[in-house]
Amino acid sequence: MSPSSTDDLAIEARGLVKHFTSGKSVTKAVDGIDLTVPEGTVLGVLGPNGAGKTTAVRMLATLLRPDAGTATVLGHDVVRDADKVRSVVGLTGQYASVDEDLTGTENLVMLARLYGFLGGSARARSTELLDAFGLGDAGDRQVKTYSGGMRRRIDLAASLVMSPRVLFLDEPTTGLDPRSRNQVWDIIRVLVADGATVLLTTQYLEEADQLADKIAVIDHGRVIAEGTATELKRSVGQGAVHLRLADSAQRARAAELVATVLGAEVSLANDPYAFSARVPDDGGPAVARLLPALDDEGIAVPEFSLGQPSLDEVFLALTGQPLDEDPGASDDETIEEVA
Ligand SMILES: Nc1ncnc2c1ncn2[C@@H]1O[C@H](COP(=O)(O)OP(=O)(O)OP(=O)(O)O)[C@@H](O)[C@H]1O
Ligand SMILES: [Mg+2]
Repeated sequence: MSPSSTDDLAIEARGLVKHFTSGKSVTKAVDGIDLTVPEGTVLGVLGPNGAGKTTAVRMLATLLRPDAGTATVLGHDVVRDADKVRSVVGLTGQYASVDEDLTGTENLVMLARLYGFLGGSARARSTELLDAFGLGDAGDRQVKTYSGGMRRRIDLAASLVMSPRVLFLDEPTTGLDPRSRNQVWDIIRVLVADGATVLLTTQYLEEADQLADKIAVIDHGRVIAEGTATELKRSVGQGAVHLRLADSAQRARAAELVATVLGAEVSLANDPYAFSARVPDDGGPAVARLLPALDDEGIAVPEFSLGQPSLDEVFLALTGQPLDEDPGASDDETIEEVA
């Protein structure tokens, strides 16, 4: 690799490994991950529960020491130069760090003081952030009274007190309603427009699609695919069409017609009125012809939808396996080791 391309990387991880041992069982949480994130870009790390996303982020943010491999953030080694890394990164976790008993303002002022803002300027920074995150009216309330969406925004605000150049966002919108999710996305877009580098983990392909320049799909602690959202989607086709008819007696004929127009297999739902079909790669124009073709045959279609490929479909295509829930991956986060 040429020196100039290395210089442009905000985050570079090579062969990162982390095991957890509890009793006799060993979990390979991260099993040899390589990641590169050019400065000023967004990497989406996409994976199901227990894939190793949080563990990877915690190693990069210096909260956990890797068992093997190396990683640098803006050129600083996450083990040897952990202090330097901490001075340039912001982290908001799934299990975030604001104090629930303090008010929004108190949390931000406290953090600002920690980062060296003096009295008045700490308060000014807090006010500025609360306003930017639409929390101006909630600043005097204890964080434990906040809704989930407000809570997520105060977490984000807390991670931005010192305008980090590199930001780790661990599932920043999990559990948020669509409106709050959009607000958080907007905030992240503004940060990136201002030059920040973001590594965000998510379980949603759509979130990665909205925000990320590149996506790394991880499963069982390994990167199983990497590329742009378009590249990943291309690997699973264009998604699927779902139809529900007015008359179940017409389903067989309708399914046959759809199969012919799309050139794809149709699957019949348990619901006798409904069926769906995968849309092939170049199937966009054919989808547009479906409704007129059905109409010509006198088949009424009161419900028709075209869905993006889901994360399940991406996984199915990438691994040949459906997404599996790891029952061991739960809320049992313990900060067990700090580098
Ligand atoms: N402190 C810990 N002690 C023991 N095992 C752990 C610990 N942290 C994580 N693990 C295990 O490591 C694996 C990866 O967990 P991790 O939290 O990194 O996954 P994740 O991708 O962030 O999942 P989620 O989407 O549920 O947040 C899981 O099997 C989990 O149970
Ligand atoms: Mg996690």
